[in-house]
Amino acid sequence: MKFAVAGASGLVGRALAVFLRTQGHEVLRLVRREAAAGDELFWDPAKGALDAAALRGADVIVNLAGEDIAEGRWTASRRDAIRGSRVHATRTLVAAVEKMKHRPHLLVNASASGFYGARGDTVLDEAGPRGDGFLAEVCEAWEREALAARELGLRVALMRFGMVLSPEGGVLARLLPAFRGGRGGRLGDGRQWVSWALADDAVGAIYHAVLSQACEGPVNAASPNPVTGAEFAATLARVLGKAAWLNAPAWALRLKFGAAFADGLLLASQRLMPERLLDSGFIFRHARLEAALRHVLGK
Ligand SMILES: NC(=O)c1ccc[n+]([C@@H]2O[C@H](COP(=O)([O-])OP(=O)(O)OC[C@H]3O[C@@H](n4cnc5c(N)ncnc54)[C@H](OP(=O)(O)O)[C@@H]3O)[C@@H](O)[C@H]2O)c1
Repeated sequence: MKFAVAGASGLVGRALAVFLRTQGHEVLRLVRREAAAGDELFWDPAKGALDAAALRGADVIVNLAGEDIAEGRWTASRRDAIRGSRVHATRTLVAAVEKMKHRPHLLVNASASGFYGARGDTVLDEAGPRGDGFLAEVCEAWEREALAARELGLRVALMRFGMVLSPEGGVLARLLPAFRGGRGGRLGDGRQWVSWALADDAVGAIYHAVLSQACEGPVNAASPNPVTGAEFAATLARVLGKAAWLNAPAWALRLKFGAAFADGLLLASQRLMPERLLDSGFIFRHARLEAALRHVLGK
């Protein structure tokens, strides 16, 4: 198949592009700078610019594009960038698909566990309603743009990723220096649920969604074994052979990062169950956190 991938330079996108090629597929990477290789296609999602003709032959569009949500305080301008980048990118892709004579059959669009808001101990499958807060609103707007592709005859899979773990980027790469230095610890009281998947499983889940017709609409893309924040910190420290006693109280996180970021991201409890993936036969290669971390960190 031919895949057009937006956000292909990111943590998930890089791994996905490599994986797809090993499976014998063709990958066209959408880039926001001048195309520098034969497999790249320039687009400017902020301006709605994408040459529909250059997407010719694409069977699947994968949209992973969006500003990093964890760069720091959610100021008004960061919020605009986080929301706008996702809405505009998705709208630009769908508008280009609309212009195509022979359309792709599938849009796989990233979304996030943030859709559900902060939900304590509630087990969240895909039937769960949208939660409250900034990320939940962003996810809803982002998913709405993607679902417009249904009107054009595409199947749409909305991948609600939990925390994607890889030492090459994202949250784990940010945590590693502190934990390796014995300066790790839990965030807040550590009772919040953390839904996670290794990058390899996130890629596998995307590929499963491509191949499985049952993956239509929301698809929770996180291990069936979420952990509490305290368990996450203790497990990472154990795997690294370090202590983890430098806990960060909730008030300190709110002071440092602002309440919206601290409560909406660092302390938000999301206990996802990947019902759609499991029901359609997906098997997580690394479903337990300790074994997953040992695998990915070579410990
Ligand atoms: N990693 C996680 O833990 C996680 C969890 C939940 C949801 N997600 C979502 O899954 C998607 C992929 O995650 P990821 O970790 O691979 O993200 P990532 O590493 O931050 O990569 C996202 C890519 O989006 C593109 N991008 C950045 N700013 C943009 C903008 N203003 N407009 C359009 N595109 C922009 C960039 O690619 P180019 O520079 O090549 O355009 C970037 O490489 C993201 O949308 C993310 O929100 C990720």
